Amino acid sequence: MTIQTIKTAPFDDQKPGTSGLRKRVTVYQQPHYVENYIQAIFDSLEGFAGQTLVIGGDGRYYNDVAIQTAIKIAAANGFGRVLVGQNGLLSTPAASHVIRHHKAFGGLVLSASHNPGGPDGDFGIKYNISNGGPAPEKITDAVYARSKVIDSYKIVDAPDVALDQIGLQRSGDMVVEVIDPVADYAALMETLFDFGAIAALFAGGFRMTFDAMHAITGPYAHAILEDRLGAPKGTVINGTPLPDFGGGHPDPNLVYCKDMHDLLMTQEGPDFGAASDGDGDRNLIIGKNRFVTPSDSLAILAANAALAPGYATGIAGIARSMPTSAAADRVAEKLGIEMHETPTGWKFFGNLLDAGRVTICGEESAGTGSNHVREKDGLWAVLLWLNIIAARKQSVDEIVREHWATYGRNYYTRHDYEEVDAGIANTLVDDLRAQLPGLPGQVFDDLQIAYADDFSYHDPVDGSTSAKQGIRIGFTDGSRIVVRLSGTGTVGATLRLYLERYEAADGRHDLETQLALEPLIVLAEQLSQVRARTGRPEPSVIT
Ligand code: G6P
Ligand code: ZN
Repeated sequence: MTIQTIKTAPFDDQKPGTSGLRKRVTVYQQPHYVENYIQAIFDSLEGFAGQTLVIGGDGRYYNDVAIQTAIKIAAANGFGRVLVGQNGLLSTPAASHVIRHHKAFGGLVLSASHNPGGPDGDFGIKYNISNGGPAPEKITDAVYARSKVIDSYKIVDAPDVALDQIGLQRSGDMVVEVIDPVADYAALMETLFDFGAIAALFAGGFRMTFDAMHAITGPYAHAILEDRLGAPKGTVINGTPLPDFGGGHPDPNLVYCKDMHDLLMTQEGPDFGAASDGDGDRNLIIGKNRFVTPSDSLAILAANAALAPGYATGIAGIARSMPTSAAADRVAEKLGIEMHETPTGWKFFGNLLDAGRVTICGEESAGTGSNHVREKDGLWAVLLWLNIIAARKQSVDEIVREHWATYGRNYYTRHDYEEVDAGIANTLVDDLRAQLPGLPGQVFDDLQIAYADDFSYHDPVDGSTSAKQGIRIGFTDGSRIVVRLSGTGTVGATLRLYLERYEAADGRHDLETQLALEPLIVLAEQLSQVRARTGRPEPSVIT
């Protein structure tokens, strides 16, 4: 075996975002682009000689090419073993579990999550550490710094690995083990949930549709929902992963899952609908006549988690990203457990989970998860919902209504302005930031500003601080306006405006969301001038 040292020149755009390095496939296809980035990751780590690295991706276009490269660079850099999912597949939560279960040093997750795939779509690479979670900023900053000065990478001159063949192979001196991508994950789910009760639910005629969106969760959902839990064949739709996701946009929201949503709003439709994204970490939950917002879902799952065997002794605490609604805070208060508000990005939950301070985490961006892995987990959320429905013997709509009647309702919406000129977006945020000191105490009709700040997170576990994580304008009645720039876009800037209003337990819970939030929407425009400055009369996406 020969280890080659190849001379290269740095790229100036390899700065990891909210969730790894996401770029157009065409960017990744530049000579040395993948090699530089993976070498920059390894150069930023210490102590992996002879250790295990997990590699897997969501099956999107370029997955297979990048995985072969990653294996050869890992071999040249001295890893002892690579565990790779068959055909290069591993959902993001399954990769997290495999890293933990097999005590790996870390893992490379190849995905651009919910972004479209194919030759003109997106690709991404993310490094996860030994706890199974995304690398903290200390590491991603080091990777970026290294990528700017890198002048060579190491790669073995070895044949490609046969990714379709389960079992042991070699790449240079390194062992490569191709594993069943589903087995470990399915076994873990069986320890957390009451599979007997869920199977009885299906046997009793309960019907669901799970849309895998031609992405990674297909094999997992077929194996767990249909094969193990006995849901009728056909419960899982679009269940075969395709490199371009069948031309679709694998983001489980009301835009891309509109047909399923509409079906759930009819009497003939199933009782329950769910979907997951490109890499299997996001979830969409819809009951008959009831869409559940991700923020409400987090609160309801936390309030009812003890109904599932894996959480029967109760949960230690809850964490949510800052822009996520405060619905979960009320649950934590009632349970008398810790509540944490973190910046956007699952990586910020890692320390809290490792320290046992929280058990359940969630984000408004359709992510929920628990301490079972260190990523958000789409199928996990679906299974916990099924477990709760089976235990409570109620519909999703009944469960949601009872929740609001107990805790009150946090009306919530997010308005996105996508592919905005980055200069305009940055100036807008800077100007808003400059206004913040003068805002507290100001009154706009019924709304009085209680606080206005740029969110700064102080990690209570490692003491680190992450500043400038989004602008918060809070009102005395619990309402809130949040403005931040997305860290996951690949073109221009995406401005996100998050709006929230609290309605008490005995208040009005049946208002149309956009109407309920209208005064805040108007005030947000007055303060930030998003529409005026971007020239966009309305958001590109409303969630
Ligand atoms: C990804 C990350 C999440 C994040 C979401 C939105 O899914 O894994 O942690 O909440 O993107 O991030 P953004 O920076 O685009 O708002
Ligand atoms: Zn994802």
